Amino acid sequence: MRRNIVAGNWKMNKRFEEANELVNDLMDCLEKIDDLKAEVILCPPFPYLELCTDMSQESYFAVGAQDVSEHESGAYTGEISASMLESLGLDYCIVGHSERRAYHHETNAVVANKVKQLLANKISPIVCCGEVLSEREADKQFDVVREQISESLFGLNAEEFGKIIIAYEPVWAIGTGKTATPEQAQEMHAFIRSIIKEQYGAEVADNTSILYGGSCNAKNAEELFANPDVDGGLIGGASLKAEDFAKIIISFK
Ligand code: PGA
Repeated sequence: MRRNIVAGNWKMNKRFEEANELVNDLMDCLEKIDDLKAEVILCPPFPYLELCTDMSQESYFAVGAQDVSEHESGAYTGEISASMLESLGLDYCIVGHSERRAYHHETNAVVANKVKQLLANKISPIVCCGEVLSEREADKQFDVVREQISESLFGLNAEEFGKIIIAYEPVWAIGTGKTATPEQAQEMHAFIRSIIKEQYGAEVADNTSILYGGSCNAKNAEELFANPDVDGGLIGGASLKAEDFAKIIISFK
């Protein structure tokens, strides 16, 4: 089902006590929201997942991981499997983030494997896509995003695809303070929905939540979320302060 979603990607930030404080502050903020119009997902670093799943029992957020192994289990030192995430009660996991693509060799084929592991464990993948600046300057952003989505996701059947959340994150906008304009976001989100429609039909396309990410903050969220094909955001920097994150959560009309 298509729904509004605001997911916070903490990346590699916060020590344990700070994480605890952030979640507590966020719980206070969520408590004060009368009419919550979005599903809220926190994606903390692995060591804080259990803290967050425990606290989520008393609040209005779900929990996701920032990454998962493409392998099922075994001799993969340092890796975390989808089954481990499932055993902690997680519902979501980010895959294909541009930072993992850039620094950890995460190709579309690897993303496809991770998605399969997650789906086998009933975890919804939040699959990131997006072009780098040189690709946008060369007007190749649509080709790049089409390739990322088709290579990592179009091996799924329609039922499996129904569990996917897409996050469009133009790499030039991540952590740079340079947000895509609402027009640029809407244009790409509509394009993404159109290729999903080509592959799986109108119903699946209409039901897919497509989030925007890249310097989305308390000031620009409302304008971005007002677009018909923007169903929320994947928030990095602005998810590290409870009040800022809460303002983004209430940015839906
Ligand atoms: P940002 O990061 O909001 O700090 O730009 C978004 C992301 O990378 O998910």
